[in-house]
Order: sequence, then structure tokens, then C-alpha cells
Amino acid sequence: MRPLIGTSWKMNLTASEADAWFTAVLPLVAHLADRDLFVLPPFTDIWVARERLQGTVIGWGAQDVHPAEGGAHTGDISAPMLADLGCRYVEIGHSERRRDHGETPDLLTAKIAAVLRWGMRPLLCTGEPAPMDTDDAVRLLLADLDRCLAGIAPADLTRLVVAYEPWWAIGDGAVAAVPEQVGTIHRSLAAWLEDRANGQAVPVIYGGSVDLDIASRLLAEPGVDGLFVGRYALDPVNFARIAATPIGSAEEVR
Ligand code: PGA
Repeated sequence: MRPLIGTSWKMNLTASEADAWFTAVLPLVAHLADRDLFVLPPFTDIWVARERLQGTVIGWGAQDVHPAEGGAHTGDISAPMLADLGCRYVEIGHSERRRDHGETPDLLTAKIAAVLRWGMRPLLCTGEPAPMDTDDAVRLLLADLDRCLAGIAPADLTRLVVAYEPWWAIGDGAVAAVPEQVGTIHRSLAAWLEDRANGQAVPVIYGGSVDLDIASRLLAEPGVDGLFVGRYALDPVNFARIAATPIGSAEEVR
């Protein structure tokens, strides 16, 4: 599986700042042919991403979507709007949206279905709210995935990306989860997802306080198929460095 390394800018960077970020990053990552890179800017910057990233090694997408195709939903953005802007990925169910907007698994299922209908890849975030025993975390995560993926056809799951994002490891002041535990959790999620997808592999990437120090340790863990970077990647050079992380076993990386 090709490693998948991306960033969500959350509610950061204006369209002008997005342009400058792309100008800084593109020459630094142009040679990276053995992995998939992506950026999820705010809605207002997606057209800049389309202008600047078409034909480059970086794909782009959105941080949220409304489940309906269109209509009287003031302030919302639909999947056809995102597809028309060339989005390849749409993030769904980030903990900040679940927390700040009360998003429920039922709503997330409808969003996933909308993204699939429009030929894009849903990037579903799941995570435990507080640190807990690995087995308990896995049980909770699988229950969440089970609810969010209810009714999604096994064949469609091959387009899904799952981001394991422990809530307690996200944001200012937090530290990333321990790579060995992340690996254990990813392998459990991957086995469950593969079963559900009739034997096809579904990538599981990790997000939560990823920085350059921990990136190679995370990517060296079997089961960690990629990284989803937040605040550290607002600096374009940081993103480029993480994007270029050597991939291989811990021994090879050292
Ligand atoms: P962070 O965000 O890297 O700033 O912790 C990660 C995320 O929310 O995906």
C-alpha cells in the first residue's frame, strides 16, 4: 500500500496564505513519487488548491460536507460542489466537528454516502475521547466504525480511508500517542475493515500531534499506512519534511 500523508489546515490560512503555502511546498515535494500526499484547506481555499495543485504530486480535498446534494441549507457545502473543484478526499467526523457541531454517527454515514456517490474518498476520523487501555480503545473504535459505516456497501469500502485520531492527542499542549500502541490499534482496525470490505485492504492513517520527531517512528510501525498532520504542517517546510519521511522498517530508518 502506498503511504498516504496529508494535512488539514482546520480553520487556518486565507486564500492568499494558501497560495504562499503551495509556492513553498511544491518544489520540496515534487520528487516524492512513492507516496500519496494531500491537503485539506478550508472551503474558501479549495479553488486555490485546484489552481496550484493540478498535475502535481499533492491531491486536495475538504474538511466536511453536507449529506444533501443541494437545497435550502444555508452556509453548507455539498458533495457535487466539492467534486466539481477536483476534491479527491473529504474528511468526515473529525472530533472537533463531533464536539462542536454535535455530529452523530448517523449523520456521518449520510456524509460518507454522499462523498462516495460523487466519486471522492471519505476520510473518516475515529478516536477515543480519553486515554484508555488498548483493548477498550479498540472496542470503542470498532463500535464507532460499525455505526458510521452502517449500510455502506463492502465494495465502496475500498475507497475509504480511516484516520485513527485519539481526541486526547490532538491540538495545542497534547502529545502524540505512543507509536507501538498506535500500531496495535491500527492492525486491529485494519483486520476488522478488511473483513468488512470482503478482503480488500482499507488504509488506516494516524493523526494527533504528529511532528517530524515522531513521524518516522509512526510510519515504521506495521499497520500505520500514513499520517494526518494538523498544526505542525501549517508551516509549509514542516509539511514537506514530514511528507519526505523515509519509509521502511525502524531498522532501515535508523
Ligand atoms: P494536531 O491535529 O496535529 O494539531 O494535533 C491533528 C488532527 O486533528 O488531525
